[in-house]
Amino acid sequence: MAAGFLVAVLAAVAAILATLPYEKELVHTPLVRNTSLTPDARPLSPGAGSGLPYSRTTLHFNSSGTACEAWLYTPAQGQAPHPVVVMAHGLGAQKDLGLHRYADPFARAGMAVLVFDYRTFGGSDGEPRHWVSPRRHVEDWRAALAFVKGGGLGSQYDTDRVSLWGTSFAGGHVLVTAADLPPGHVRSIVSMVPHLDGMENAKANLRTRGLPAVLRLLAAAAHDKLRAAAATGLDRLEAALAPPATASTAPVTKAKAAASDSPAAAVERLLAALRPAAAEAVSWLRAAAAPLLTPAYVKLLGAPGELALMQLQPAEIAAYFSKHPKEYQGGWRPLVLARVALETSSYRPITSLERLAGVPLLFVSAAQDSLCPAAAVRAAAAAAPGGGAEYLELPCDHFSAYGGEHLKAASERMTAFLRRHFGMQEGQGSEQGRGKGSGVEVQPEQAVGRSGEEEEQAASGGAEVDAGDAGGLAGGGTSPAVDAA
Ligand SMILES: *[C@@H]1O[C@H](CO)[C@@H](O)[C@H](O)[C@H]1NC(C)=O
Ligand SMILES: *[C@@H]1O[C@H](CO)[C@@H](O)[C@H](O)[C@H]1NC(C)=O
Repeated sequence: MAAGFLVAVLAAVAAILATLPYEKELVHTPLVRNTSLTPDARPLSPGAGSGLPYSRTTLHFNSSGTACEAWLYTPAQGQAPHPVVVMAHGLGAQKDLGLHRYADPFARAGMAVLVFDYRTFGGSDGEPRHWVSPRRHVEDWRAALAFVKGGGLGSQYDTDRVSLWGTSFAGGHVLVTAADLPPGHVRSIVSMVPHLDGMENAKANLRTRGLPAVLRLLAAAAHDKLRAAAATGLDRLEAALAPPATASTAPVTKAKAAASDSPAAAVERLLAALRPAAAEAVSWLRAAAAPLLTPAYVKLLGAPGELALMQLQPAEIAAYFSKHPKEYQGGWRPLVLARVALETSSYRPITSLERLAGVPLLFVSAAQDSLCPAAAVRAAAAAAPGGGAEYLELPCDHFSAYGGEHLKAASERMTAFLRRHFGMQEGQGSEQGRGKGSGVEVQPEQAVGRSGEEEEQAASGGAEVDAGDAGGLAGGGTSPAVDAA
């Protein structure tokens, strides 16, 4: 009786989650990949020949059998084999949403840079598109690192000197990826405005959004997950029932003929006879249920109250989109599979910190960060093994760290840090005119002191990076900045 009631309740919950009749903000139209915009379609330096101190090519590596696309920046100067910085983007983002702006100063300073897209994003393969998953993303990070360490880039690139750079969600992935690796495997790590603790994030969400809104997001996630599980289940069943690819034409031996009289063989024959009908029924069911089994997407970012993974103030949303390119590789849209909401609260990169002894770390935070609070990053930097990590706090919000003066301050500090741990001498292998700055530590006070400067100055500060190359990526060079994320 009680068991029957329980089953009925569970069935009702499953049915409601499977259809989520009241939810109007979920997106069920499939996110179709658009491959017409290739990664190389827009030159780094439009019309200006190649005046750049580096080149960029596109390549692919495999992550669990799926191709990930990457940009490889190779400095024109400096001695091969070049040290390599591996980079990837944050939550729901891809390489053409701003990573060029960080790769550029690194490549100018004589380092090779590999910027990759996670599976199902940008130029990388994988369906359904825009599947954000900490577990899968860390697999991609490990695959990228293994590819570089294994000599996949060729002899021009140093497999001994490899560092990781991650921002936002990836600021956590780099910690998880490098934890427990042998000493020196990764030379250093830059973790920028990092997501460190999903549990703390969940608590903060509960405080700011309230329980009903959190449950609403979790219901959307369960809905997406349930549909995916049902689709996978039916696909597997269909595959299992499909007739064997080639009928056996081997002559039946005497032993086999004898065995065919046994009861087991009789059952097998019966099943074989029923199989076509079952296969047909499952195929029919799969086709009939198809509209109910498409993935469900939620907005990557939205205003408070919206069904969105990140809820932001209008100014933050404006900052997010203001520097985006006009066209996105792969047909990117600010949508992610809803299922990610089930995975995030148990994802706690901060717990990897203690297993990073001996890896030099640079944490960069943003003082007004509403997503990845600076206080948590500061605490992580202080708690890093070996007496603490290096730390830089930018006087801005999360997304403003990707442009203008903040980008400049952060990239100067990062460049110096990465070079130092690659054992590169001051000035060596770096672009002329930049030599002095690239070897000099930028102290947090200095960076904070820049906050008073006007936005216009900040914009012109970024012009060195943007001129020509970055502007070209932004589409026609009309936008001063490539993008942000
Ligand atoms: C990726 O896997 C495919 C299929 O297994 C293979 O053909 C290809 O060479 C692999 N690519 C790399 C870069 O390992
Ligand atoms: C695909 O992308 C290209 C380049 O961004 C764009 O011109 C085209 O309209 C897109 N196609 C679709 C079907 O969205």
